[in-house]
Amino acid sequence: MSDADAGDGTSEYQQVHWSSESDEWATPPSLLRPLDDAVDGFDLDPCSGAEERSIAAETYTEADDGLAQRWHGVVWCNPPYSDVADWIEKARFEGARDAVELVIVLVPARTSTQWFHKFASHAAAVCFIEGRLSFGDADNSAPFPSMLLAFGEPTDAVIDAFDDRGAVFVDGERYAPTRQATLGDAADEDRR
Ligand SMILES: C[S@@+](CC[C@H](N)C(=O)[O-])C[C@H]1O[C@@H](n2cnc3c(N)ncnc32)[C@H](O)[C@@H]1O
Repeated sequence: MSDADAGDGTSEYQQVHWSSESDEWATPPSLLRPLDDAVDGFDLDPCSGAEERSIAAETYTEADDGLAQRWHGVVWCNPPYSDVADWIEKARFEGARDAVELVIVLVPARTSTQWFHKFASHAAAVCFIEGRLSFGDADNSAPFPSMLLAFGEPTDAVIDAFDDRGAVFVDGERYAPTRQATLGDAADEDRR
């Protein structure tokens, strides 16, 4: 896609990738890296396409329809934001299956939505990310806050990686780490 100015100071890339209709909110590597380390690599990314490099050993694109597939192992799920409700419901359902170890979800922190109350609030762990993320190649931060969810059984390493990014709630209770909680350099890269 061309990066030419679209006439209002934003590039064509930014116009497409930042519009609320866009589903192409590629996960910032600085957010993904510590989570990938904590799970020792993701097995499956069921909603893939926008990222520069594959995030997991197996990926499903829109053509495969990740919503219609069975998931397995440790799953990374940053879904199309035009249809968060269906993906969160699916993540909660899949996270309870034996074949699935853990599902980590990245979505906008829209706490007033039905999908938050029906599905997201039942996650084993929730991290409300401090600051706003810069998705894809964007120079600026997103116009919405984000959160991480874990469905299944997150390890201490995953909870600690969540804790490096913001306020964490485990089984509905505020997580109070015994180690000194400091937001790391990676968080600074994305915080605006
Ligand atoms: C927010 S992006 C996330 C991309 C990547 N997984 C990441 O974390 O950077 C969501 C992606 O899901 C893809 N997508 C949309 N509908 C899908 C479907 N039914 N099944 C699988 N992928 C889909 C979109 O094309 C888009 O690339």
